[in-house]
Amino acid sequence: MTSLLSVDRMRIGAKPDFIAVQDVSFDLAPGEILALVGESGSGKTATARAVIGLLPPGLAMLGGSVTFDGTALHPGNLRPLRGPGIGMVFQEPMTSLNPALPIGVQMAEGLALHTKLRAAEITSACQAMLARVGIADPAACLRAFPHEFSGGMRQRIMLASVMLLRPKLLIADEPTTALDTLTQAEVLDLMVALTREQGSAVLLITHTSAWSRAMPTAPW
Ligand SMILES: Nc1ncnc2c1ncn2[C@@H]1O[C@H](COP(=O)(O)OP(=O)(O)OP(=O)(O)O)[C@@H](O)[C@H]1O
Ligand SMILES: [Mg+2]
Repeated sequence: MTSLLSVDRMRIGAKPDFIAVQDVSFDLAPGEILALVGESGSGKTATARAVIGLLPPGLAMLGGSVTFDGTALHPGNLRPLRGPGIGMVFQEPMTSLNPALPIGVQMAEGLALHTKLRAAEITSACQAMLARVGIADPAACLRAFPHEFSGGMRQRIMLASVMLLRPKLLIADEPTTALDTLTQAEVLDLMVALTREQGSAVLLITHTSAWSRAMPTAPW
């Protein structure tokens, strides 16, 4: 089967001679879930960020290649891939949800950018997705700000706004590390269920192998 994502001998580092990631290679088939497990500082986040071309200042991809859906990625052709191509959920949703904007404005952005839906259709799509992730009052949620929700709810909202665009690949970087154990399991179950529904592949980054054990084995 052809790969959805192919990372080949990726090397990431900083000047003058710091190497954060040395020759990492992996392949992800469409719809497949792959867990990237490693200790703190081993370069998991750097790898994920290099895939979407969002390395922090100071780090750069020094070698290797990233191919997504048959196209070799380079900084010039990354933009159309974010959203419908690749969605990303981070460890702490406050870093990816803008604290100064109502949730509805943030959720609508992606659909307005990547689809031809009208405003009313965007609102109902947002509400349906919020209901799907277990938000009790989706209309009120769209008017609210991120700080009005608990960490687990914020992560559900983040997941809703990313999955709204039906990405072919979801990259989840320690999506549940900041949550209590019960909430972690709920959010992970939700993430697996949503991505199975949409047929999205998942690159799940974690420093504990418990997650890979917790995941169901069939039908993938
Ligand atoms: N902006 C940066 N500039 C220079 N070095 C960095 C930068 N960000 C991270 N690093 C270094 O790159 C290496 C990999 O860091 P990375 O954040 O990818 O690790 P990680 O596996 O995600 O760890 P954790 O499990 O703690 O999230 C580390 O040695 C880190 O110190
Ligand atoms: Mg990390």
